[in-house]
Amino acid sequence: MNPLFAFDDAQCQALAEAHGTPCFAYSAGVAEAQFQALRAALPQRVRIAFAVKANSHPSLLKRFAALGASFDCASIGELEKVAALALPPQRTFFAGPGKREPELAKALAMGVRIQAEGWEDLARIEALAQGEVAVNLRVHPAFEVTEGNRIIGGSGPSAFGVDEEDVPALLARAADLRHVRIRGLHVFAASNQRDASKLLATHAAVLDLAQRLRDQHGMVLEQIDLGGGLGIPYAPEETPLELSALGHGLADLLARHPWFTGELILEPGRFLVGPCGVYLARVVRTKESRGTRFAILEGGINHLLRPLLTGQAFPVKAVGRSGGSLPTTLAGPLCTSLDRLGEVVLPALAPGDLLAFGATGAYGFSEGMTHFLSHPVPPEVGVS
Ligand SMILES: Cc1ncc(COP(=O)(O)O)c(C=O)c1O
Repeated sequence: MNPLFAFDDAQCQALAEAHGTPCFAYSAGVAEAQFQALRAALPQRVRIAFAVKANSHPSLLKRFAALGASFDCASIGELEKVAALALPPQRTFFAGPGKREPELAKALAMGVRIQAEGWEDLARIEALAQGEVAVNLRVHPAFEVTEGNRIIGGSGPSAFGVDEEDVPALLARAADLRHVRIRGLHVFAASNQRDASKLLATHAAVLDLAQRLRDQHGMVLEQIDLGGGLGIPYAPEETPLELSALGHGLADLLARHPWFTGELILEPGRFLVGPCGVYLARVVRTKESRGTRFAILEGGINHLLRPLLTGQAFPVKAVGRSGGSLPTTLAGPLCTSLDRLGEVVLPALAPGDLLAFGATGAYGFSEGMTHFLSHPVPPEVGVS
């Protein structure tokens, strides 16, 4: 079976008939296999916290919870979905560069570990906390990291975390807080990286940074969170991440830093759920326009935003069709010329043909425009 598609043609047809189109479908078996393969490759001291932002479907959350996963949340909506799993609080983390007070209050009520992104987070937690609260500090490193696609944004100016050079002053200021205790480091600076050596180079730099912060500024480190960023193939020529290389590299890293006796955390999103999803949509009509063949589909960037954001199309197949290879521009139904899902090669299409987009289990539905990261939908108010 083609690893880019979690479901074969007969399964795609059956799903489309049973549930209508457009629709997303997720294979729990594929998600579980991704989790188990990663778990088996990593040292025991590395905790896996699934980044819920990638896909918050309750069936997947339940499956990962049963496998022992922890969860990385980035909004009150995600916290609520994870609260429904009734897990011990230490299995949930709360990150995000713009945490609002109700979100922090919810995280504190749940007792989860908050990844503070700066002084405002620390001050708000201090004001809300009843007793002592251990938090991790998200740091925006000065070293350059390589991303598969530019998503998190390298070492330049960033909305994420505290700039590395500002950490000593912040630690000194935080020492006067009554309730908040900084007890860990969080660094996540790269995304969709399929090269284990590049991921490990970043992880090594994070441990060196942690050691400097501990030795020179007395930072207490119960946890070091290395973020996500484990990449997946989106095209047949792209090779998968070598999990054994990643696992051995992390074991070596722990051995090279015997002073660190705490826990390492990885927060993969894309890796765990990307491969498990397909998005099914039918062709509404086709047209030729000045030499370009278009297929206009039932859904577009309202459901699959990633091609517009990253410039990379999802893998796509015409279900039940073989042969033919016509360059085709896939357009959605939205009234904007931005609504494109890619320029691809497919058999000649006709209205009603079913297309399946593979590897859409991560940042597909959850990145759909009103659903992004399960943030609340804003009300619309008509004023006369
Ligand atoms: C803080 C944090 N952790 C984890 C992730 C998951 O990243 P990925 O899906 O690339 O593994 C993200 C993604 O944006 C993130 O912002």
